[in-house]
Amino acid sequence: MIPQAIIDKVFDVALIEEVVGEYVTLKRSGANYKGLCPFHDDKSPSMSVSPSKGIFKCFSCQQGGNVFQFIMEHEGLSYPLAIKHLADKYNILIEEEDINVDELAAESRIKDGVYSCLEFAKNHFYERLNESQDGKVIYKPYLTERGINQQTIDKFSIGLSGTSRTHLLDEGLKNGYTVQQLYDAGLVKKIDEDQGVLEGNLRDTFIERIVFPIYSVSGKVLGFGGRIIKKDTKAPKYLNSPETVVYEKRKQLYGLSISKNEIRKVDQVFLVEGYMDVVSLNQSGVENVVAASGTAFTEEQARLIKRFTHNITMLFDGDVAGVNASIKHVRTLLSADLNVRIALFPADEDPDSFIQKKGTAEFQKYVSEKAQNFVQLIAEVTLGENKHDPIKKAEAARKIAENIAVLPDPLKRAAFINETATFLEIPERILIDEVNKFKLDNRKQKERDTRREERQSEQQGISDGLVPDFDYSPDFSEGFTPDALEKDAKNYQEMDLLVSLILYADREFDEEQNIAEYMFKELEESEIWPVSEEYAQIFKDAYEYFQEHKVLNELYFIRNLATSKLAAEVVSPKYKLSHGWEENFEKFVKTDEDNYKHKVVENLNYLKLKHIDILMLENQESLKSAETDEDILIYQHVHTNLQEMRKKITDKIGTVILR
Ligand code: CTP
Ligand code: MN
Repeated sequence: MIPQAIIDKVFDVALIEEVVGEYVTLKRSGANYKGLCPFHDDKSPSMSVSPSKGIFKCFSCQQGGNVFQFIMEHEGLSYPLAIKHLADKYNILIEEEDINVDELAAESRIKDGVYSCLEFAKNHFYERLNESQDGKVIYKPYLTERGINQQTIDKFSIGLSGTSRTHLLDEGLKNGYTVQQLYDAGLVKKIDEDQGVLEGNLRDTFIERIVFPIYSVSGKVLGFGGRIIKKDTKAPKYLNSPETVVYEKRKQLYGLSISKNEIRKVDQVFLVEGYMDVVSLNQSGVENVVAASGTAFTEEQARLIKRFTHNITMLFDGDVAGVNASIKHVRTLLSADLNVRIALFPADEDPDSFIQKKGTAEFQKYVSEKAQNFVQLIAEVTLGENKHDPIKKAEAARKIAENIAVLPDPLKRAAFINETATFLEIPERILIDEVNKFKLDNRKQKERDTRREERQSEQQGISDGLVPDFDYSPDFSEGFTPDALEKDAKNYQEMDLLVSLILYADREFDEEQNIAEYMFKELEESEIWPVSEEYAQIFKDAYEYFQEHKVLNELYFIRNLATSKLAAEVVSPKYKLSHGWEENFEKFVKTDEDNYKHKVVENLNYLKLKHIDILMLENQESLKSAETDEDILIYQHVHTNLQEMRKKITDKIGTVILR
């Protein structure tokens, strides 16, 4: 563990404008600096750097934080390594006993070795495709046959694996890589799982396959997808690299490093199913395309896309599997607040075969004519020919409502409910009820998930050192939702309270105390510390700091790893309002000057409600399993009391709360 004193020292010396200025040209703009954001393909300066607060914030891709986070993101380092990096740069000595240098060096050495191994493999495979006998006689002609030209092979660095079982293993060793590195890179596999990583127990992962390198957004090789071309084999058509220290599949999209500029330019991305679709569309001049290459489409991938565009069109096969896959992906994309359209291709065609047959113009025309939103897609797929069948209509309405329920933006929810009502000729009121039912279900599910995750991390004892992934924005599109449980799933209430503390800690509450003092007193006396581990820890740490130093302000939260991202988000200068920023924060920012005391009290009240709700739930459980009449009476009594407490608070908040 690096002592806080040293972290503070580095923080004080490593000025944010200097550190960021090494990577990005910064221009002064009032009290702050502006520059092109290095975390996405930025055309006009979207990143703001605030020297007085020690933070950077991109208003376009939402990256933000303190100097350490900048280095972590930019250099791909862990938190301690980022501190070490800056300490070295500014000649601040970190004692050996304070930091396990060997351990840190080992971490970065392993990754470096793996990256370099993968880069070597990519180049080697590429050469084999272009220069080996097999490549020239069998594999390149296969690609040519499928319409892939040399320029495209070069652009994607498509290659050819070895044809023997240990080709790459031998080549790698010959070129100075170790068996461990080749194994860590996922390029070789164990033959006998129970035996060690030893030369005799390893064989190539890719044998007799055309390989497509998979890159990170910034263009580092992470792994490969390999296609077999033999027909007389039981081996799967495609084989992908395993997860490794550098390749986390849920966080990557095939083709993004190549397509990101175009995606940004046209503000639109096509999501396809396969490697060949990406490659083939690119060759035909459609360059804003990525593939999830695998089955699941994750939240992380949706967020990755959001850094470049909010508009996504899914291109899927029109067969049953394709339709089902696309409907499954839709929900993930909708919950990320992306604008989703879906174009299904005719059965037996995929984007690759279609564009090869019909050409680019016809392809573009087809897509723009066929693309529909999820309401139309689900209605079409569910109703089929039976446009007026009441049972089918109900089924379609339910499926659509399930998807509307995940939209974070209430205006969009309202618009889609309206569209569905008109389209299916169903009263809006009924749809709203249906959507609400799904929202409630989702919420309960999320609560269960959160609790399970919390339990798991408690068991594993890994709650320290984690950086909470604040997904702050969706919340404020809703304002303060009246239902106390509404925000539970992602701990929004606790996040709101933390935001108030970050923004107002050192402001006056009354003549006797400031906000921090008041808030901590309330938390302590009413026993309403945040319920989630993560926030409880943050508040307790801040409380401890406050008790010790008697001061607390935004600087504390900016320095603190667990809160710096959120702090950067909420204290950032609003030099340019991006769409999301305006929508989500305007309310908060505009009203806080005159309203902050009210806001703090309100947030505390919501937290009280949450505690009461939890008590009520627990009490209900006890009631259900109560065995004697006496017990039943007691639990009923508790229930009434809690209900009264609840009512008092809701009256104060001044909103009707439906239970
Ligand atoms: N896929 C996979 N493993 C398989 C089959 C498919 O990982 N055994 C993934 C690959 O990313 C593949 C995508 O699913 O690109 C789509 O599969 P498919 O439609 O079967 O292949 P195409 O992309 O059409 O490839 P090709 O045109 O070469 O047949
Ligand atoms: Mn295909």
